Amino acid sequence: MRLRSGVAIDLGTVNSLVHIHGRGVVLDEPSAIALMRPTGHPTMVGARADDLTGKEPTAVKVVHPLREGVISDLDAAASMLQAFLRRAHFHTSLRLPRAVICVPSGASFIERQALVAAVSLHRPRLGVRLVDEPLAAAVGAGVDPLGNEGVLVVDIGGGTTEAALVVGARMVRVRPLRIGGNAMDEAIVQGIKGELGLQIGHRAAEQLKKTLGLTGGAEGAALVVGIDTAHGTLREDRVEGAVVAAALEHVVAPIIESVEELLWEMPPDLADSVVRHKGQLAGGGALLLGLASRLHAATGITTVVVDDPLRSVVRGAAILLERHYDLLAPT
Ligand SMILES: Nc1ncnc2c1ncn2[C@@H]1O[C@H](COP(=O)(O)OP(=O)(O)OP(=O)(O)O)[C@@H](O)[C@H]1O
Ligand SMILES: [Mg+2]
Repeated sequence: MRLRSGVAIDLGTVNSLVHIHGRGVVLDEPSAIALMRPTGHPTMVGARADDLTGKEPTAVKVVHPLREGVISDLDAAASMLQAFLRRAHFHTSLRLPRAVICVPSGASFIERQALVAAVSLHRPRLGVRLVDEPLAAAVGAGVDPLGNEGVLVVDIGGGTTEAALVVGARMVRVRPLRIGGNAMDEAIVQGIKGELGLQIGHRAAEQLKKTLGLTGGAEGAALVVGIDTAHGTLREDRVEGAVVAAALEHVVAPIIESVEELLWEMPPDLADSVVRHKGQLAGGGALLLGLASRLHAATGITTVVVDDPLRSVVRGAAILLERHYDLLAPT
């Protein structure tokens, strides 16, 4: 009989992932919940709720309960999480139920407690431990939690960016920023409005970010449909890669700066192993075309995108849950 049940959760600004002990990642959904007005009763969660964003009927409100990596709407976050855990068939009826929850390293005490409260709701026996996201990302990228080597990891999510120097299961330096992929999308919306007089939606901006990135991608340009800001009419326009790259710079420049600042603070004894292990780029933002080489050029450290970067944080949390739970401090 299996005595232990465990769950690792990466509750992200954009995506939530749930790993169940012994079963792997069983849920990977957008962090969204649709609530009925005026009762607040949940009707949909995850992808189905997210798909309604911007086109919801008046009787429904779509909520993305996390902002900049932390819970901004506790009730909605708790409802969403409970629905995800039900869908993942996570049961706490077995002995010693455990949870490892990922949290941005810049989260305050209160923000951390909000996460613990959201996951513990109706599960009083659940032992909850928090892990800082860059540490989980590093473990997910293959860093040995019992090791003694320094590794540079940069986790770029939807709402946060965290650059950290990790040694084993410890972060020795960290630079958290409350910007990420969502800020990139917003910068593209503003850039295209300014350059082309075209108001585009955030979905279209995200698509441009993914196809053009910092390099212009394979085509160097892409078509987009928006509303002409002068005439209020629909217009399709060709967007050059340089326009998107210039807009992205508003977000990419502070990210690169934070990594440079982190490296200035690096204990010299770690320099050798940090260079040997290369910079590890994790999170969805790691996939931004041209970012790894920009970081290499700025820091002099070869930088690589980790395997399956959208899952590196939950992968690391799962390893900590299943093999190194005692390394994490009790909440
Ligand atoms: N190919 C791509 N190029 C650029 N950005 C991408 C790509 N694929 C996904 N993204 C971006 O990655 C972000 C989501 O990443 P991720 O799931 O790691 O964030 P999150 O964990 O939900 O957020 P956070 O950790 O900040 O709370 C989105 O902004 C998405 O647009
Ligand atoms: Mg994340």
